[in-house]
Amino acid sequence: MIKYAENVYIFDHPLIKHKITILRDKNTGTNEFRQLVEEIAMLMGYEALSDLPLKDVEIETPICKTIKPMLAGRKLAIVPILRAGLGMVSGIEALVPSAKIGHIGMYRDEETLEPHEYFCKLPSPIEERVILVVDPMLATGGSACDAIKLVKEKGGKMIKLLGIIAAPVGLDRIKKEHPDVQVYVGMLDDKLNEKGYIVPGLGDAGDRIFGTK
Ligand code: PRP
Ligand code: URA
Repeated sequence: MIKYAENVYIFDHPLIKHKITILRDKNTGTNEFRQLVEEIAMLMGYEALSDLPLKDVEIETPICKTIKPMLAGRKLAIVPILRAGLGMVSGIEALVPSAKIGHIGMYRDEETLEPHEYFCKLPSPIEERVILVVDPMLATGGSACDAIKLVKEKGGKMIKLLGIIAAPVGLDRIKKEHPDVQVYVGMLDDKLNEKGYIVPGLGDAGDRIFGTK
């Protein structure tokens, strides 16, 4: 991972780069797209969770008793921003099967590009959990910023944000509005176009994951 700014990391692993390039290809179909989003989320989640605290526990192997590390008390919550964030959940859940899952519904107005919340249900209590907010696309950053604000209003404190592709403007906004959040991004793209899509990007992530238009 490359440190882009305080608390902001961009991945430079060849597997992640390779998989994101296939995602971008307009000829990649729904099945493969979904599979890749899951795999990329798993690879990114593995790194983003590398600071999870451990505690020593006593276990007994077939040979002897021993004291070895296991994840300590802090539990994980995965919070996808609907819809597209849903595609990232299974990859991270595979790493931490005990994670609880919250949902935040946001859609971006096509004209104003302003995010609108339509659903929020988080695991309770949320205060003690490490919270992984996931959304493949950070464009203006509005959806992610509002989702994180909501998580904080509900009591969330230890928040990480995972996005597969980001535009510089979105990343800068998140950094400014939520400097306490650790942000992990698969790749940083060039810019937004006049319709608010990331360039070169991958198009509409929700439509590509769910096969809608
Ligand atoms: C997409 C994407 C993000 C948002 C990013 O969702 O999944 O949530 O746009 O844009 P922003 O950074 O400018 O806010 P969209 O609103 O298209 O909803 P969907 O996932 O239901 O398609
Ligand atoms: N949302 C998407 O799904 N794609 C973009 O490029 C921008 C926002």
